[in-house]
Parts: sequence; C-alpha cells; structure tokens
Amino acid sequence: MSRDPVVSVLLDPDRIGDSLVDDVRRGLVAHPRRLPPKWLYDDVGSVLFDRITRLPEYYPFVREHAILAEHAAEIVTASGATTLVELGSGTSEKTRILLDAFTADGQLERFAPVDVSEATLRTAADRIAERYPEVEVAAVVGDFTLHLAHLPRGGRRMVAFLGGTIGNLYQEERRAFLGALADTLEPGDSLLLGTDLVKSADRLIAAYDDSEGVTAEFVLNVLRVLNHELGADFDLDSFAYVPFWDPHMERMDLRVRSEVPQRVSIPGADLVLDLAVGEEIRVEISTKFRVSKIAAELEAAGLSVTRVWTDEDADFALTLATKA
Ligand code: SAH
Ligand code: AVI
Repeated sequence: MSRDPVVSVLLDPDRIGDSLVDDVRRGLVAHPRRLPPKWLYDDVGSVLFDRITRLPEYYPFVREHAILAEHAAEIVTASGATTLVELGSGTSEKTRILLDAFTADGQLERFAPVDVSEATLRTAADRIAERYPEVEVAAVVGDFTLHLAHLPRGGRRMVAFLGGTIGNLYQEERRAFLGALADTLEPGDSLLLGTDLVKSADRLIAAYDDSEGVTAEFVLNVLRVLNHELGADFDLDSFAYVPFWDPHMERMDLRVRSEVPQRVSIPGADLVLDLAVGEEIRVEISTKFRVSKIAAELEAAGLSVTRVWTDEDADFALTLATKA
C-alpha cells in the first residue's frame, strides 16, 4: 500500500506577496527592466511549460530524457544515494527514469521534490507515491534560492536539478546557489545537474520561438500574473514576445516589448510605469553552457565532477558532482 506524501510548505502566502512586490519594485525600474523567472510558474504557466516540453522544436526535454534513459543505472550506483532530492521538480516526469533505476536497485528510501508551484508539486507527489509505494515522498513547497538549508537531511543524498533550470539564473545567482547547495551537502552527497549546451543560434531561436506560439504565451503570462496578484492593468495584446540569442553572454534572452506608448498601473506594488514604444522587459534568460564552464563553476563551489554524460549530438549534458 502506498503512503500519502508529506507536503511541507515553506512559502508563506504573505511572504510570497511581499517578495513579488519587492521583485517588481526593484526589477521594473532597473535597466533593462526585468522580472525573476520564478513568477512565470503560476498554475497557467506550469501547464504552458508542460506544453513547451512536448513541442517538436524544444529539444532539451527529449535530449535529457535520452541521457537519463541510457545512464540511469550508472547514475544511481555512482551516487549511492538513499534520498533523492529534486529541485524545481515540476511534474517530475523525467525523474521517473531515475526512480525506476533506484527502485530496481532497492536502495532508495526517500524522494523529496521541491518546487514553488504548489499545485503541480502536489499532483506530482501523489502520482509518485502511488507508483513507488516503498519510497517515502516528502515534498517541499519552497524556493531553491532561499530554502536549501531546510531540505530533508540524513542518509546519503543526491540532489537532482534537471531541465537546464540552472541556466535561468544569472551568473552571480548561480554562484550563490551552488555555494549554498554545497554548504548543505555532507561529504559523499552529490548533485546531478542538467545543463543545456551552446549550439547554433538557429536551433536555439526555434526552441524558444516555436511555431505554435506556446513559448510566447508562457512568457507573456508573467504579465497576467502581475494583473492577478497585484491588480496591475497590463494589456497583453499591446506587448510582443521578443526572444533573441546573446552570443556574448551565450544565453537566450526572452523579453516582452511594448508595441504602443502606454501607462501601466501596478497598485499592489504602488508603481506606475510609463512605457515607450519598443521598451522591453526581460522576463527570463536561458544560459547555454560548455562542459568546461560547468565543471569550473561546480569546482569553484567545492563540488568535484565525477562524471559527465551527453546525448549523441552533444545538445545537453548531465553532470554528477560530489561534495568532497
Ligand atoms: N525539472 C522539470 C521542470 C523544469 S521547469 C523538468 O526538467 O522538466 C522549472 C521548474 O522550476 C518549474 O516547475 C518551476 O515551478 C520551478 N521553479 C522555478 N523557480 C523556482 C524557484 N526559485 N524555487 C523552486 N522552484 C522553482
Ligand atoms: C525551465 N527552463 C529550463 C526552461 C528553459 O528552457 O530555459 C524555461 C523555458 N522558457 C522558455 N521555454 C522554456
């Protein structure tokens, strides 16, 4: 018989409001104006992201899936983990490949998915508890930039951070994140990190500017989140989605552009924005990596790279790094 998942909520609803207000006040008056990508994932945004993963142009999902399918048993053995923590777990769909390998091996005691999106997390945790009755599921509604110190402890842990989500953090945020994560790990614990790799601009732009317009809807949805949460009056039809490849920073830069001169009120943040025609707000970056750069960032945080796996076309990489 499966046990019900235990769900710990570290995000306090009042603090969520406060932190959105802070992010909006700080980000929307910066140059370029910007918003943190975690606000993309309300219930609508989480469903849209799930649709993105099924788009033919969005190669990261299938590539990482292929690497996991080929190497899951090796990963499980190399980690020696009895607890699998997953950051930014979403639907945990690909994670099932790891869970299958862990349960075939019989070593896994606990699975702890962590996500800001409570509804998605609860649904995923229920499904996993049902499918893997022998594993304790301890889900955490939390923010991986704030709550790493509160993750489940004990046993040998492997922290999976899949999908290339680390690429959505700025370099200084990545450094802080990896440092904080390394601080919470015990010697012998490991990180399994998924990263998208640098490739031709054409393929990258196709992946982030799909022909069905799902990515555009996903990115523009952040304005709807501000309307809903802060009583803002963004008119989504007066913004265009503008994705571009920044070859210097080696990252996709995903923005929305005001198509008309307009005044937007955001009463919940006590802010009025005057946007000129062509003014942009950056909603997300998606950094693409080289294997040497990933290793350097991990080593700088005190994590030593044990193995790196890529798919046949070297589109995506999975790196296993251990705390010494
Ligand atoms: N790991 C999944 C989902 C990737 S989408 C995959 O590989 O397909 C990114 C996920 O990270 C979303 O579920 C989103 O809700 C979550 N997320 C984004 N920012 C977060 C943050 N700061 N803390 C916790 N979860 C976050
Ligand atoms: C979650 N993250 C890794 C996705 C990415 O590819 O950077 C988010 C995304 N944004 C637009 N499409 C997908």
